[in-house]
Amino acid sequence: MGHNVSVVDAENPAVDESAAPSGRSAGSALEDNPMMYHRRVTSFRSRHGSLKDSQQRTWDELWPVLGADVSEEPLDDTAWFGRSAPLVIEIGSGTGTATAAMAAAEPEVNLVAVEVYRPGIAQLLKHIKNGGVSNIRILKGDASEMLNHMIADNSVTGFRVFFPDPWPKARHHKRRFLQTETISMLVDKLRPGGVLHIATDHADYAEFIAEASAPENRLGPLSGPSPMTLERPQTKFEIKGIRAGSTITEFIWEKIEE
Ligand SMILES: C[S@@+](CC[C@H](N)C(=O)[O-])C[C@H]1O[C@@H](n2cnc3c(N)ncnc32)[C@H](O)[C@@H]1O
Repeated sequence: MGHNVSVVDAENPAVDESAAPSGRSAGSALEDNPMMYHRRVTSFRSRHGSLKDSQQRTWDELWPVLGADVSEEPLDDTAWFGRSAPLVIEIGSGTGTATAAMAAAEPEVNLVAVEVYRPGIAQLLKHIKNGGVSNIRILKGDASEMLNHMIADNSVTGFRVFFPDPWPKARHHKRRFLQTETISMLVDKLRPGGVLHIATDHADYAEFIAEASAPENRLGPLSGPSPMTLERPQTKFEIKGIRAGSTITEFIWEKIEE
């Protein structure tokens, strides 16, 4: 952790305003189509982005080996990586700059990156190819679905959630990935001693996370050396934010033995 970074742990919670429900009233489109009321709330926007030719070539070469869609099938990471090793999952890996650097620094872990945005995944595939990193696999799809269906309880050594979308408007707070229920599910999936590492540059989201995690009594400060690296490289996005005056808040928690 570098300059302008504060760490918040289970003993140092902050206070928060709570999420506000959407104040949007039903318009005529909704009245005409009641199914629109049932659209699932997600933490991501649907974004379409096509791949450049070179990205498409890398995708065609590497995706069948390194990638899979989020599904309802339990994840067999030992078979997928061809080895049994501590499992670390990064949620919302974006373009994968931190993913690739951290994987190279911890060759002893099996690292799964989960991301919905295909062009971002294509950039991660390029980092993997250029860097010769062999311990990353990628799941394309909604991390909430992955947690619900693919990951066994008490099986994960670490989760990383770096700069999750802040959804700054109060009516969108329900779209934030890190809610009390999600944090509780992440903790279910962690093995005792496993680590949850979160970073955000959004002060209001940091308070929201502190509040959302407060009911979770299975999280505590690290009690010893971390089972995964906590050295997070600064991305261009983060450096730009710091220059613009943002403070980075990191949460580093360990799942307490029950
Ligand atoms: C603000 S970006 C940060 C990316 C990266 N972690 C970084 O630090 O540069 C948040 C990323 O999370 C992804 N994302 C948001 N919700 C997600 C979900 N439920 N499942 C998978 N990816 C998600 C978005 O597509 C986006 O790429």
